[in-house]
Amino acid sequence: MASTKSQPIPGEDLTKRTGLPEDLLVLAARYPRETWQGHRNLGEMARFWLERHGMFRELGAAMADGSASFRENEIAAKPFIQWLAPRFNFFLSELHMHHNVEDHHYFPRFRAADARLARGFDILDADHVTIDRFIHELAESGAALEAAIRGGGDLPGAGARLGERLDATLTVLTRHLDDEEDIVVPLIIDRTEAALGLG
Ligand SMILES: [Fe+2]
Ligand SMILES: [Fe+2]
Repeated sequence: MASTKSQPIPGEDLTKRTGLPEDLLVLAARYPRETWQGHRNLGEMARFWLERHGMFRELGAAMADGSASFRENEIAAKPFIQWLAPRFNFFLSELHMHHNVEDHHYFPRFRAADARLARGFDILDADHVTIDRFIHELAESGAALEAAIRGGGDLPGAGARLGERLDATLTVLTRHLDDEEDIVVPLIIDRTEAALGLG
């Protein structure tokens, strides 16, 4: 498998794109999103995988809501960080595990199944690296807010920075989840999980 993990794919940078190029959406056109849940080829693995994506979207939205409440002074800094920290840590470890399984278990099988989609998996691989960078900056802003709480620093500034990094991270993550589903789910429906060696 060619390694493209260090660089965004030119023209397909996760922070800039608004969707996938048309040539990668050939199967998605044949199996539109609204038909997925009712399709008999959407097996247990795909359903579980979509549920994980749903969990990332929901937990991400809950953390963004919490940080908006903090910035609007509806919750004090200390209870906010106590509320946020376990959710953030859970989110990070689940996302790390999820990307690991995709990178090492699922993507190589999908890539081998349909040469037309290989570039799509290059894009998704590169997305994971971009998301790692956003997560790193988000973790730094969380640590800065904790330090401001402990040391009596600039709480509004640190809170605003955390909220801004959280929103930015969720924006790129949501783009990635949507695009990944548009490549992976139609492929699974077209080929079946058994034929792809999943499950
Ligand atoms: Fe992914
Ligand atoms: Fe994923």
